[in-house]
Amino acid sequence: MTTATTTVETVDTTAPADATTTAVETATPSPEPRVVLAMDHVSYSYTKGGKKVVDDLSHDFHAGRVISIVGPSGAGKTTVLSLLSGLTGPTEGRILYNGDDLARSDRYRFRSHDIGVIFQSFNLLPALTVEENITLSMEASGKTFDRPKHDLVVELLAKVRLPAEYANERILHLSGGEQQRVAIARALGYDPDIILADEPTGNLDMATQDDIMAIFRSLAHEEGKCVIIVTHSPAVADQSDEVFELKPLRR
Ligand SMILES: Nc1ncnc2c1ncn2[C@@H]1O[C@H](COP(=O)(O)OP(=O)(O)OP(=O)(O)O)[C@@H](O)[C@H]1O
Ligand SMILES: [Mg+2]
Repeated sequence: MTTATTTVETVDTTAPADATTTAVETATPSPEPRVVLAMDHVSYSYTKGGKKVVDDLSHDFHAGRVISIVGPSGAGKTTVLSLLSGLTGPTEGRILYNGDDLARSDRYRFRSHDIGVIFQSFNLLPALTVEENITLSMEASGKTFDRPKHDLVVELLAKVRLPAEYANERILHLSGGEQQRVAIARALGYDPDIILADEPTGNLDMATQDDIMAIFRSLAHEEGKCVIIVTHSPAVADQSDEVFELKPLRR
């Protein structure tokens, strides 16, 4: 048996850099942001008795912030995202949503209502239109909407900076960057508290990457959402409010 340890470092990129900024910040204290999602001593092994991929992680994720999860390939980033999304249950420890243990709540409801997941491969239905892809997940949530779905779709497209005419385009006619925006719009369709995204800017040029990050920052800072993204890009990590670094387990 090898000893397995996970080291986690968090860097608050919004923290004041010098004493002058500290003084300004102290004069106007901002309220402590609300914890929406938390890992409480979470461990995970892929098979019973198999190797641990995640070992004793604890962390609070706050509303109104963009958090980047970084770390080398194989460190367990996608695994952590799937634990946070309720897709997988931890082998040990708890995932808490607004203080409630996910294992004791309706995980289907959590996944369809409270959390929007953007997969690396987008998981859009290529033969359907943009609007059909977005309304499908709105319908699956079982939420009621106070306005016609088409109006909401047009509003969502504006939020991700796509023209309204794109509603009728088929996914297979869109570029990678455009599909990324549709995947974000779809995740926002039922207005979840939390957005999770795996490598959301992985195959995009720098300008498009910055655009996508601007969308995420506005969702967090203007709408109070908790946005958690996995990234390999230092530029993306720099644009987030907090960096959560996963170190691979020593084997
Ligand atoms: N379904 C699975 N069954 C068994 N082991 C798995 C499975 N999925 C991932 N692993 C292992 O778990 C570890 C962490 O994988 P994970 O996909 O979470 O890493 P990652 O940090 O997302 O890597 P990358 O940056 O390459 O996407 C790896 O060692 C991987 O081989
Ligand atoms: Mg991964």
